[in-house]
Amino acid sequence: MDKLKILMAASEVVPFAKTGGLADVTGALPKALKALGHDVRIVMPRYYAIDKNSFKALDGALGVDMGREGEAWALVLEGMLPDSDIPVYFIDHEAYFGRSGLYEEGGEAYADNYQRFVFFSKAVMQLSKKLHFKPDIIHVNDWHTALIPLLLNTMYAHDSDFENTASVLTIHNLQHQGRFSKDVMEVLGIGWQNFNIYELEDYDGVNLLKGGIVHTDALTTVSPKYSLEIRGPEFDWGLKNVINAHANKLHGILNGIDYDEWNPANDKYIAKNYDLNDLSGKKICKKELQKIFNLPQREDVALIGFVGRLVEQKGISLIAQEIYRLMDLDIQIVLLGAGEKWAEDFFSHISDIHRNKFACYIGYRNDLAHKIEAGSDFFLMPSLFEPCGLNQLYSLSYATLPIVRATGGLDDTIQNYDSLENSGTGFKFYEASGEALYGTIVWAVDIWYNNKDAINMLIQNGMKKHFGWDDTAMVYESVYYQALLHRRNRKKG
Ligand code: ADP
Ligand code: GLC
Repeated sequence: MDKLKILMAASEVVPFAKTGGLADVTGALPKALKALGHDVRIVMPRYYAIDKNSFKALDGALGVDMGREGEAWALVLEGMLPDSDIPVYFIDHEAYFGRSGLYEEGGEAYADNYQRFVFFSKAVMQLSKKLHFKPDIIHVNDWHTALIPLLLNTMYAHDSDFENTASVLTIHNLQHQGRFSKDVMEVLGIGWQNFNIYELEDYDGVNLLKGGIVHTDALTTVSPKYSLEIRGPEFDWGLKNVINAHANKLHGILNGIDYDEWNPANDKYIAKNYDLNDLSGKKICKKELQKIFNLPQREDVALIGFVGRLVEQKGISLIAQEIYRLMDLDIQIVLLGAGEKWAEDFFSHISDIHRNKFACYIGYRNDLAHKIEAGSDFFLMPSLFEPCGLNQLYSLSYATLPIVRATGGLDDTIQNYDSLENSGTGFKFYEASGEALYGTIVWAVDIWYNNKDAINMLIQNGMKKHFGWDDTAMVYESVYYQALLHRRNRKKG
């Protein structure tokens, strides 16, 4: 296949800005695409936390038409994705992005989010022109950049710089769609012809993700199971009809993980490295974890870790509901997360009253996330829905047995322990209930105390799994090809 020019547009990219797995993906997939020989470049906003002085500014400003709000101007900073020669362009606009949060502060979404991401999406197009890049593919991610496929088909439809450009939209989480009032149309500045129920309109407002789904040349989501789930009523967040109407361009592609970052054999954050052949370092990691969290340093107690955004999606209500019963078991729980205030307060309170069994850190700490993966015996992900999930994959490589609810990517990637077949990689439950969560933890912990052979078998199976980006990038490559074909046919039609 010809080498492609790919522009990856995203609102967050590791290591520059991250709130969740989206950033892990946009920081890793480009490297794997580059390794296949493609010319990949990344574009993201320059938030306050990204130090302006570390990057050089391109000459000249970027002008972006913001409809009724007139023209807005941005600077463009250029850097590199670490350990690669992949250029990263930061769109620098003080008023829109010079803030400490990415999308919100103190639990409140920024009121001008739609201006910010309409601006960013248009800036991506303008940047491409400024660089004379003429991309074959613009790969956009989630609602923040979902406008770009529509821009390609409207404002830039006759622009020779995008004559051969196809778009690919990846949905990392369908819950967040970029739903705003129809005021958006006024800053979009493309007239009202796309404001209808088949494109942007959603209950008299604008839905940016919906516009993206309709206009993109190829649509992907981050696991095969989730690509089916979003077509039914339980997980579609109101979009099943739109998704089903465009299902011929939908692909479920499981995320990979970045083994440069998440590998116990060379993880720089953990107390002692270890691998499949010698797991002794894991005991030291467990001890260190217990020490950091002021828990009794017992090797013989089952330690369960949790790392994640404290939001309903992650099943935190199920944990909260069962926590008192769980505290009667001989276990320790370490939780790292930030999010909804009730959950932050609740888990802090539990750590006060069960000091020997439950510990938490409320906040965002990458080093602690690594230490929890390495030091825990189990990793808990009772998500109500999970498009892919990365932590269960990290857990497999860290010899930490996942306890998950069978949904989306969790169901695709974890095989339940089967005592008859002597197989599996973790423990799964199906019903989204506290009872099911509790029962499964009791089951897993019982095996841990009474059947070390089974535990070792599960650990070995998990560590032998490989979820690298190399294979996944080849799947994206074929989707890019299909997107280009779709584009070509659309033009002919
Ligand atoms: P999501 O994107 O829905 O949050 P994923 O499992 O795909 O879920 O990815 C979450 C990523 O964010 C993981 O890399 C995880 O380690 C990280 N993460 C989440 N919360 C925290 C936190 N409080 N501190 C450090 N890392 C976190
Ligand atoms: C989203 C999903 C998560 C997925 C991540 C990366 O935030 O919630 O399941 O792993 O994106 O694709």
